[in-house]
Amino acid sequence: SMHADLQVMKEAHTLAAETYHNVLRMTEEGAPGRVYAEERKLSAAQLEHFQIGYAPDHWEALTTIFSNKKWSLSLMAQCGLLSARKQAEGYYDLFRHRLMFPVKDGKGQVIAFGGRAIGADQPKYLNSPETPLFQKGKTLFNLHDARSGMRQRDQVILFEGAFDVIAAWQTGVTNAVATFGTALTIEQATLLRRNVSQVVLCYDGDQAGLEATRKAISVLEGVGCEVKICLLPDGLDPDGFIAHHGAQSFRLHLEKELMSVMMFRMHDRRIGKNLQNEGDRLRYIEEVMRDLAKYPQAVTREYYMRQLADEFGLSIEVLREEQTRFRKEVA
Ligand code: GTP
Ligand code: MN
Ligand code: MN
Ligand code: MN
Ligand code: MN
Repeated sequence: SMHADLQVMKEAHTLAAETYHNVLRMTEEGAPGRVYAEERKLSAAQLEHFQIGYAPDHWEALTTIFSNKKWSLSLMAQCGLLSARKQAEGYYDLFRHRLMFPVKDGKGQVIAFGGRAIGADQPKYLNSPETPLFQKGKTLFNLHDARSGMRQRDQVILFEGAFDVIAAWQTGVTNAVATFGTALTIEQATLLRRNVSQVVLCYDGDQAGLEATRKAISVLEGVGCEVKICLLPDGLDPDGFIAHHGAQSFRLHLEKELMSVMMFRMHDRRIGKNLQNEGDRLRYIEEVMRDLAKYPQAVTREYYMRQLADEFGLSIEVLREEQTRFRKEVA
């Protein structure tokens, strides 16, 4: 039956996670995984807590284990652990020679894996495909284990990648989750909203991260989250920031450098403009005024209009008048 099939798929994931983890910890064939884990500065505590493993450089490691258990290899392929051979009969392991991150569902059951290439192999990440157990758009890496920290602080940190979550955990940030390199979905945002009021977006400090931040803001606001943004400097991602600047500095950054959405928009509107230039300056002021017009709270609008007035030497009355006009256009 379908239910029995799902049960076996889950058991297979639990066994795969234990197998990969044990290979990493204590086998000779796990050496490349240990070398890479050390290169990435992963501590023993991180390896344990996230049950990080290594998929050996074999075509039939899991395949043999599953065969010995007499589990249907077709089922094992349906849940993304094996692949069917194309030219011949039989199956082979999907994940080979990769550092493995188990992905859990809301109950803590392993349902998928992220597999990081060792070195420069392509693709850099091989994630489990969409299966009856795992739908990327409805799952968040680390949600199960972050939940209590999230609820305690009424806040979640959202990262782009599992590696960021793992690196942040070592610095004491335990209320963090990540997507799987795809845009944040409404379903994922809803999962967050059920647990916390505030979401801190901490995406990679590059162009892709900036674009993903813009999109995630609107999805999160759409489900009623209070959004804060933590921008990272110099093209660094959270794990890179921690490696370069250390744990203390990262925590300070997360606590002290949070931007409101409106501050982020003002920052964002400045990118690519030269505010010494009159045309750019006027364009900037108008764009910010139009962003502000979408805010229902008069206090918020007034607060940021005062900032504009101060920065550009404008009278607040003129800005209020202009704001009234933009608000009519929005309504
Ligand atoms: P490291 O390079 O190991 O530090 O990983 P990262 O998390 O910094 O990777 P990156 O910022 O490039 O990508 C963010 C997320 O996108 C990753 O965590 C993956 O989930 C996903 N991703 C990145 N590269 C690939 C890829 O080649 N294939 C797939 N399917 N996903 C990817
Ligand atoms: Mn363990
Ligand atoms: Mn990136
Ligand atoms: Mn990254
Ligand atoms: Mn990274």
